[in-house]
Amino acid sequence: MTHAREAAAARRYLSEGERLQPGNLARVDWGRKLPAVKRYPPRAAVRPADPLPALLRDAYGWTRYQWDDWGQATSLPGMANLALGRPLRAVPSGGGLSSSELYPVGEVPGLPSGAYHYDGAAEALDPVRANVTPADLGLDDTPLALLITSVFGRVSFKYGEFGYRLQCLDAGLLAGQILAVLDAAGLGGRLHTRFHDEAAEERLGLTPTAERPLVAVAVRGLPPAAPAAPGAVPLAAPALPTEHTRPPQVLDTMPHTRTLCAASRDGTGPGAPLPPPLVPGPAWPGDAVALPPPDADPLRPDALAVARRERRSLDGRFGVGPITLAQAATVIAAARHTWEGDVGSRHVLLYCLVNDVTGVPRGAYVYDPAGHRLLRTREGDLREEMWLPPPQRWLLGDQRCAMAVYPAGDYAAGFAACGDRWYQMQNIAAGAVAQRVLLAAAGAGLSSRIMCAAAPADVAKLLALPPAHRPLCEILIGPRGHNVAYAQPLSAGDTWPARTPEVTP
Ligand SMILES: Cc1cc2nc3c(=O)[nH]c(=O)nc-3n(C[C@H](O)[C@H](O)[C@H](O)COP(=O)(O)O)c2cc1C
Repeated sequence: MTHAREAAAARRYLSEGERLQPGNLARVDWGRKLPAVKRYPPRAAVRPADPLPALLRDAYGWTRYQWDDWGQATSLPGMANLALGRPLRAVPSGGGLSSSELYPVGEVPGLPSGAYHYDGAAEALDPVRANVTPADLGLDDTPLALLITSVFGRVSFKYGEFGYRLQCLDAGLLAGQILAVLDAAGLGGRLHTRFHDEAAEERLGLTPTAERPLVAVAVRGLPPAAPAAPGAVPLAAPALPTEHTRPPQVLDTMPHTRTLCAASRDGTGPGAPLPPPLVPGPAWPGDAVALPPPDADPLRPDALAVARRERRSLDGRFGVGPITLAQAATVIAAARHTWEGDVGSRHVLLYCLVNDVTGVPRGAYVYDPAGHRLLRTREGDLREEMWLPPPQRWLLGDQRCAMAVYPAGDYAAGFAACGDRWYQMQNIAAGAVAQRVLLAAAGAGLSSRIMCAAAPADVAKLLALPPAHRPLCEILIGPRGHNVAYAQPLSAGDTWPARTPEVTP
């Protein structure tokens, strides 16, 4: 265990582990790809009472089966066997590998109190263990919590140590989606990145070297639980997933991630300190761009339903031309939204690169949420500097994105307050902000793609970040583009036409 101020394991992971990106997709052994689901013996699955089925489906249900088209990339040596068809969810995930699993814990409407696993394919819950409560996890003031875990092996075969960064962001994206879905349903949620990890592992029968609990959302405002339906089987011992879908124990093959995860158990406990909110530096006169008020809340219930359906990572080229200042303001203001919880959007600053936004000079900016304005950090046309290496270059035409936004954090301040655990806390907060940005972009009729391909040091230079700020991911945004992948709807609740016409202006 390291002293909070040292955070030696997290610093080592940042300098050694995060750097170990595979780089070459042709070297990935796709035969080691795991199922993107965890399934329990199917006959035991149960259905909770309303409103849980719709909430879970909207948060983490499967939305479509996508047939990718990698075009010229598949003609390269070693690339011919890429899996080109895959199911995708309401939230994005690194590599589309669905690293997260979701467990309702506590008073689940219509079922005996306990821990359950969400099976999105069956739109049902697998009973995992009876009589587990949020209080067992250290969450005292809620009857129901949604626990998000992450499966190392789903990403490690492709990304190695770098995968843990994606896992933390994936968990944050899902937490952000859950908070948005709860808001839209007139309920509420509280984000907890500090809870008793070991108790969660023990109560749910998770293997720490295979699957790690990362974040929980306490659900607020549910009507009192209805009596349990007959037929749900309370289990005294944790149920085990099927052998084929049981997460493999791979953590020992990744020393930096293993050390970071072990050290991150430090820093739990009620009342533990948090770093101060992040604020943008002072702006020079004339370098501030006032933003118009955002369009009506882009995540109000009807808009969220559209955004959930329309959000997808653009596989192809963005549409040509600028986006409007109102669209840009709506997307950027998504970072202004706050939620209840230990870490929040106040721990994330949004930087952005403006390439083609009506009325805004090209350059790099930081968003000042208090003044709802952009403060310029660099002037000029920076598109050439954000040009990515292949294969993204061929796939995305990223130079043509009208705007790119970069959630950024401050590791040093967080390590000083929270120690190693800040690594996951910071990335979870960034993921939650990123998901709001993606939903707002979809709601504003724009295409987007979240990415982690660029080296943080290069992005920091591109945006002229102060030394303390580190970019955590990148979101390309532009006019609706032409999607080369073909997506078939999957979720029973969705009725959009089988082939949505994509327009290229
Ligand atoms: C944390 C994270 C990092 C990602 N990094 C990249 C990337 O570097 N390059 C890329 O092309 N796509 C990247 N993606 C996009 C995923 O490939 C995409 O979300 C996934 O295939 C699922 O598709 P969907 O977003 O359309 O649901 C990333 C997604 C996430 C969540």
